[in-house]
Amino acid sequence: MKIGTDILEAKKFLENDELVAIPTETVYGLAGNALKVNTLSKIFSCKERPAFDPLIVHFRSIEAVNEHVVDLPEIARHLAEIFWPGPLTFILKKKDSIPNLATSGHSTVAVRVPKHPMTLRLLELLDFPLAAPSANKFGQVSPTKAEHVFRQLGNEIPYILDGGDTFIGLESTIIDLSIQKPEILRLGGVSVEALNDVLNMKLKVKTSSSNPKSPGMLQRHYSPGKNMILVDDITSIRENSYKNAGFLTFSYSDFSTKHHIALSPIGNIDEAARNLFSALNEIATWPVDVVYAELMPEVGLGRAINDRLKRASFPLE
Ligand code: TXA
Ligand code: MG
Repeated sequence: MKIGTDILEAKKFLENDELVAIPTETVYGLAGNALKVNTLSKIFSCKERPAFDPLIVHFRSIEAVNEHVVDLPEIARHLAEIFWPGPLTFILKKKDSIPNLATSGHSTVAVRVPKHPMTLRLLELLDFPLAAPSANKFGQVSPTKAEHVFRQLGNEIPYILDGGDTFIGLESTIIDLSIQKPEILRLGGVSVEALNDVLNMKLKVKTSSSNPKSPGMLQRHYSPGKNMILVDDITSIRENSYKNAGFLTFSYSDFSTKHHIALSPIGNIDEAARNLFSALNEIATWPVDVVYAELMPEVGLGRAINDRLKRASFPLE
């Protein structure tokens, strides 16, 4: 196993049907040739991911996407012009060139053009797109550094392409464009407000875990392996009355225990998003019984952060 910055080495492994971890602006992905059943099944088994949870396919450009979908609606072109490359995934009707394994048998495929110079260069050099779920074991915290990938998958893949810390820190927003009226299936790196603005409409947000259209949205996900309790205002929790507690806050940091993280001391939501998964990874190492986590304001990326916090705090068995 190697961690490095050699795009040509990553390319060689991928052309030999091996898996490589790749940097994107959202989180690191576990990538393989999206057009081959052999590499797709390697992704599912390496991640220990159930086969009902479909993958996102990454392309170098909208023209490359166009080769593998039945139809590219006007709205997709419009959104791509504004948000691609970037943290927005479209659900579109797929052509037969995309194996059913990639889409868990659905007739639609999730596609995006990621915004990271190394991965975009890699995609330009390859003559196939890359299927890439987040590079973590199923249900665990998504990786925002090469080192996080190494900890979870280091023994199982030959190469991690190190592109530094991811700068959005939350996965892409997923929008279903395969239906008449678009709907948001996952909150993520592009805010609902930004999409509503561009489309001049109020999009329906359907991110519930019981929604069969987005089968990967599990109630329990991103778990740091601690009991987490969500609170609206962390200052309402009196530290002394709780022994062995840790604290995850938006900006407040006046605690006497060392087990606390403020996601953005200056109170900036984008910065909080960038730091969230690193914080959850660190919380996993704290010797505490319980973690009190403060909910973010429900604006911009705050909604997506709260979505992740709710799943991370789903009770442990
Ligand atoms: O930012 C991201 O999107 C990252 C980076 C690596 O690109 N990828 C990522 O992939 O978050 P993953 O596998 O962790 O999440 C993909 C989710 C699935 O769990 C599922 O909910 C949804 O995308 N999805 C994929 N194909 C779909 C389809 N045809 N219809 C509905 N939802 C789909
Ligand atoms: Mg994931």
